[in-house]
Amino acid sequence: MLRHENTIALVTGAGHGIGRCIAEQLAAEGASVAILEVDEDKGRETIGLIEAAGGRAFFVKADITGADQVETAIADATEALGAINLLVNNAAFTDAGDLKGMSLPSWHREVDINLNGTYHCIRAILPLMRANGGGAIVNIASVNGLRYFGNPSYSAAKAGIISLTQSVASEFGRDGIRCNAVCPGSVRTDNITWTIRQQKDPKVFEKLGKWYPLGRVAEPTDIARAVCFLGSQEASYISGAILPVDGGLLAGMNVMIDEFILEA
Ligand SMILES: NC(=O)c1ccc[n+]([C@@H]2O[C@H](COP(=O)([O-])OP(=O)(O)OC[C@H]3O[C@@H](n4cnc5c(N)ncnc54)[C@H](O)[C@@H]3O)[C@@H](O)[C@H]2O)c1
Repeated sequence: MLRHENTIALVTGAGHGIGRCIAEQLAAEGASVAILEVDEDKGRETIGLIEAAGGRAFFVKADITGADQVETAIADATEALGAINLLVNNAAFTDAGDLKGMSLPSWHREVDINLNGTYHCIRAILPLMRANGGGAIVNIASVNGLRYFGNPSYSAAKAGIISLTQSVASEFGRDGIRCNAVCPGSVRTDNITWTIRQQKDPKVFEKLGKWYPLGRVAEPTDIARAVCFLGSQEASYISGAILPVDGGLLAGMNVMIDEFILEA
């Protein structure tokens, strides 16, 4: 039996990058997957990929900043696939580099998409999961929610997601609902931020490898595997966990250590 054969999942922002990879991995492990996307073309592309591989998927268009849109999308996905028992909050956006250059609309936009959008999805799914005896939620946060690596509004929102993860895990555990967060470090994707950085320096991912004890940035599958585990029955006693999937980045400061250990 496949690990996610009884899973009905909804993955936000699954039209691209890590979210697409998570949706494909869940489907490959037997899950029926609702793809919630603001970009319909990209979302439908993911559906095509999953179906071509023999999986089951359903598209719902929504902008997670709209609480009503999210509720409708989750109701439509439930009608099409059945009661959702795994929510993966992956959709996100950032393009604001530092506080000095931050505009007020930019701050509001990033907090709105990344934190409020995640809350809208959690708020809509909780009553449904409670009524169905439970479920699992995996939030994609970031190492940016635990330390400062630039993108301050995004980082503040990701720290908020970490706190929200703990609130949900604490309040809804008795309802059979688990809630965990995954904190990726740098992941080799072509989102807006990495595209700009790669245009400036095509070798940016290779250069960043030195900061990671494991010697490389992550691939989307590194994140998808962690999400699939936390969303599965294998993680049935794990809730409220904040899991860095960062190649050891937060464990120490190996580049600094290389500087002061002269024999290195
Ligand atoms: N790529 C990295 O290096 C990295 C590092 C740490 C954490 N993360 C996190 O991983 C997740 C995925 O990142 P990615 O690099 O694949 O991003 P991405 O930009 O490639 O994909 C995000 C997807 O979310 C969708 N989306 C954006 N705003 C939306 C909205 N308002 N409503 C619905 N959908 C919306 C986009 O259309 C897109 O398909 C995010 O939560 C991100 O913060 C990424």
